[in-house]
Amino acid sequence: MKMAPKAFPLDKVYRLLNHGPVVLISSKVGGKTNIMPIAWQVPLEFDPPLVCLVIGEHSDTFKAVNRTKECVVNLPTAKILNQVFSCGRCHGHAVDKFKQFQLTPLPATKVKAPLIKECIASLECRVVDNKMAKTHNLFIARVVAAWVEAGIFKEFLRVDRSRAKTLHHLGGDKFMLPGKVVTARKLLSE
Ligand SMILES: Cc1cc2nc3c(=O)[nH]c(=O)nc-3n(C[C@H](O)[C@H](O)[C@H](O)COP(=O)(O)O)c2cc1C
Repeated sequence: MKMAPKAFPLDKVYRLLNHGPVVLISSKVGGKTNIMPIAWQVPLEFDPPLVCLVIGEHSDTFKAVNRTKECVVNLPTAKILNQVFSCGRCHGHAVDKFKQFQLTPLPATKVKAPLIKECIASLECRVVDNKMAKTHNLFIARVVAAWVEAGIFKEFLRVDRSRAKTLHHLGGDKFMLPGKVVTARKLLSE
């Protein structure tokens, strides 16, 4: 028998919805590069491709993205779990995260912020709307160039391949990895 629902703490609500892939935001301002993991990202539009990024104003990345209106959204995998987590536990003004965590910057084509070589995909982005940055830390960015590692995308991201295990943040230091890909069947006839 299904149990009666129990009240859920409002400050943990995000943990029920949080499973999209963690991404690494790379930025560059005044010659200085930086990396910040965020779990709060969501696609907003197909064409032109737009994404929403929630980048807290406490972060150096907020200042960089707000100033340069550019960033790269990189997709990390389980191979670099500890680097991803550690990038989110320190600040760019104190730590050169590329050096400290042995991540490799690669030049992008349309923006000054670098791609991260160890990630399986990188989206070069230009901020098109930062009106809600002040009130909600929300940036809307347009993807102007996109790169993916060969062999891990065939119509869909092949998260069933061992080298494409994206990271899904449950909260704190806990992450979930994707398992198998399943195909849904429509229960309506046309
Ligand atoms: C897995 C993970 C997910 C995170 N998600 C977000 C997020 O969605 N938005 C945010 O503002 N900070 C998020 N953070 C915290 C930032 O990554 C953290 O404040 C970081 O140190 C900021 O770096 P910076 O000051 O060098 O830009 C997350 C941290 C981790 C480890």
